[in-house]
Amino acid sequence: MTTNRTFTMIKPDATAKNYIGGILKMINEAGFRIISMKYTKLTKEQAGAFYAVHKERPFYGELVEYMSSGPIVAAILEKDNAVADFRTLIGATDPTKAAEGTIRKIYAESISANAVHGSDSDENAEIEGNFFFSALERF
Ligand code: CMP
Repeated sequence: MTTNRTFTMIKPDATAKNYIGGILKMINEAGFRIISMKYTKLTKEQAGAFYAVHKERPFYGELVEYMSSGPIVAAILEKDNAVADFRTLIGATDPTKAAEGTIRKIYAESISANAVHGSDSDENAEIEGNFFFSALERF
């Protein structure tokens, strides 16, 4: 099944380096429309809850520390086949393995400081969008 919405975060490494504009430009030029967007900072508790699905992974503690270390941009995006097309646009989780021209290849530092998050399924796109945005903020 295809969906027309996905969820993204621009992560603390990218906001710290002033990459927000460059990343949003790539997102818009790839045909995604911004449905909802906010600039905010997660507490450790909020980052832990957002990434609860990774709780048993060895990198969970590092991930939570990192994602609460600075501001992020959260956004719901719309496009045909949004989840899959966005994952193609951002590239592999590990930037050393990301394809040329992808957001992570261009902007990411490392596997944890990897510039952007993208939902991995329709179901998670909805859960993650709802984590950040109320019904009134999702048009
Ligand atoms: P993201 O798409 O936000 O989803 C989960 C995140 O966990 C992922 O991006 C990476 O930033 C992080 N992650 C995945 N694997 C590792 C790893 N081996 N070491 C550190 N962080 C990881």
